[in-house]
Amino acid sequence: MSITSYGAMRSHGAGTLRAEHVGETVTIAGWVDTRRDHGGGAFLDLRDRSGLVQVVADPDASDALEAAHRVRSEWVVLVTGTVRARPEGMRNAKLPTGDVEVSASSIEVLSAADTPPFPIEDGIEVSEELRLRHRYVDLRRPRLARNLAVRSQTVSIIRRVMESNGFIDVETPQLTRPTPEGARDFLVPSRLQPGESYALPQSPQLFKQLLMVAGIERYYQIARCFRDENLRADRQPEFTQLDLELSFGDEEDIYALMEAMFVEIWREVLGEDLPTPFPRIRFEDSMRRFGSDKPDLRFAMELADLGEVFADTEVGVFKGVLGAGGAVIALALPGGGKLTRREFDEWTEWAKRRGAKGLAWGVVEAPAEGDTPTLRSPLTKFMSDAEVAGVLATTGATVGDAVFFGAGPLRFARQLMGALRNALAEANDMIPDSRWEFVWVVEPPMFDPAADSDDPTAATAEGWVPNHHPFTAPAPEFLDDFEQRPGEATTRAYDIVLNGTELASGSVRIHDAELQRRVFRFLGISDEAAEEKFGFLLRGFNYGVPPHCGIAPGLDRLVMLLCGEDSIREVIAFPKTQTGSDLMTDAPAPYDEIALKDIGLRLAPRPAKG
Ligand code: AMO
Ligand code: AMP
Repeated sequence: MSITSYGAMRSHGAGTLRAEHVGETVTIAGWVDTRRDHGGGAFLDLRDRSGLVQVVADPDASDALEAAHRVRSEWVVLVTGTVRARPEGMRNAKLPTGDVEVSASSIEVLSAADTPPFPIEDGIEVSEELRLRHRYVDLRRPRLARNLAVRSQTVSIIRRVMESNGFIDVETPQLTRPTPEGARDFLVPSRLQPGESYALPQSPQLFKQLLMVAGIERYYQIARCFRDENLRADRQPEFTQLDLELSFGDEEDIYALMEAMFVEIWREVLGEDLPTPFPRIRFEDSMRRFGSDKPDLRFAMELADLGEVFADTEVGVFKGVLGAGGAVIALALPGGGKLTRREFDEWTEWAKRRGAKGLAWGVVEAPAEGDTPTLRSPLTKFMSDAEVAGVLATTGATVGDAVFFGAGPLRFARQLMGALRNALAEANDMIPDSRWEFVWVVEPPMFDPAADSDDPTAATAEGWVPNHHPFTAPAPEFLDDFEQRPGEATTRAYDIVLNGTELASGSVRIHDAELQRRVFRFLGISDEAAEEKFGFLLRGFNYGVPPHCGIAPGLDRLVMLLCGEDSIREVIAFPKTQTGSDLMTDAPAPYDEIALKDIGLRLAPRPAKG
């Protein structure tokens, strides 16, 4: 996305000058990237959003030379001069403007600058704290400037695709009632109604469903969402979704629409053709094969369940775990036989840090005689030949590979080995940079054990929380009796996972007030409480509600992956730290006493900072 108008002060963008401009008088302005004095003259690299060009103040241009001597890095200057070809041998093929330079007749300082806190270059080592504190300087670095441009381009493609599919952009309130998405709410106390508070939306979920009741049929919004949750590389307390909802359709409409949108984005932003349709995998199969509901399909390595192989085992740890109803899950690492004893011990420590009791391992070796390979392992002496053969057959491990074993409760063992799968692939350079592996993860469970949730208000009488959100339609076969088999029930929800990152979540919704009440009741929300919290939704459902479904891709994560970044902080102009601080503005901050009193709020004293 290039600039075509440079503002009244300038005639050209610094980065746009080429051999064809030689002889023209131009006026350019921007930041002094570097300055070098040379042979009585001075060279400035002048940078603006369009790029960088070399400016020369010759010894005979005395005013310009005087200014050129005075300026420092990051001063803002206005330069008028003539474009000329660089002398043979002085051309810079790496720079788009490298064939030319601007011979300055005047250099005007528009603003001086302090020494920048770090150089304006990509690939430099700067602490994130310093970068965030001076984000306006950080954003001058080419990589971040490009990321923001990609973000803008992506939003514009999204809008085009949505609008060409008949969706209309509708804004929904930011000051509202709580919308549960599994996190804590940010609250905004009301001045006009003392003692009461708005919540910032965790998503526009309830409003978009009511827009379907309203007959909008196809809604979308680039929506800001707020969630007070523990932050990570791919989570911010405020973030952006492409939020959308449609009426009279089902899963297939959403799949087709999203695939078409991603194809468009990949084609325009990256110039790549994405194959469609994206594969689909059932949640349960994803957990079984990859130990994760966010499988990274850029590399193979599937988990193997060794319950049958070790059914009658004498290996103590496995026997104990299987006897207690747990599972033994194994993973073969191709070529893992080259790992040293120390490395195996380090992986064992890695597993223990994740709460495992241990991690067993073995190396597949060629047999001394016969043709069945053997397994060299601290546990081998307890393993029968049949068990070794079973391990090899089930995991597919061959000579030179390593096999890891995690034993424990099924969910835990799967998740542990799923995390190990990702970590081993990463550590052994098995993840190709250039592949895009989209997958739909479908038919997730309706509920998760409440112990898995970090929302303190979510725990229910039954000990279950929604896996997606409570507005998600159960799969048809569980409509009548999900209450009786909550651990088995699945829903009509779907996620898009890309290269192991959850990019989007959505579902077919409940559009029946009674079914919605049953779900609330099961979650421990009484009819009275449901009326109090969600009465507006339930009432809406009494006035003619179309079947509807939707999805919400996270824009920050999408742009992060498009830009090849590993944190969404790199694609947000002013992000917050892991502890939710904005280091530039120093938010959050103590609040003015008088203003607090005005809204009827008293803040707890600040804990002493340790
Ligand atoms: P969900 O809660 O799964 O679904 O969120 C959808 C997508 O939003 C992104 N996302 C985040 N991105 C950055 N920081 C966060 N803290 C964060 N939390 C979520 C992810 C995620 O896949 N209303 C439903 C959608 C629906 O059912 O239509 C919802 O919000 O990319
Ligand atoms: P221990 O019997 O605790 O000395 O463990 C013997 C071996 O089994 C060690 O290599 C442990 O790391 C491993 N181990 C222990 N518990 C487990 C488990 N739950 N899953 C896999 N390996 C384990």
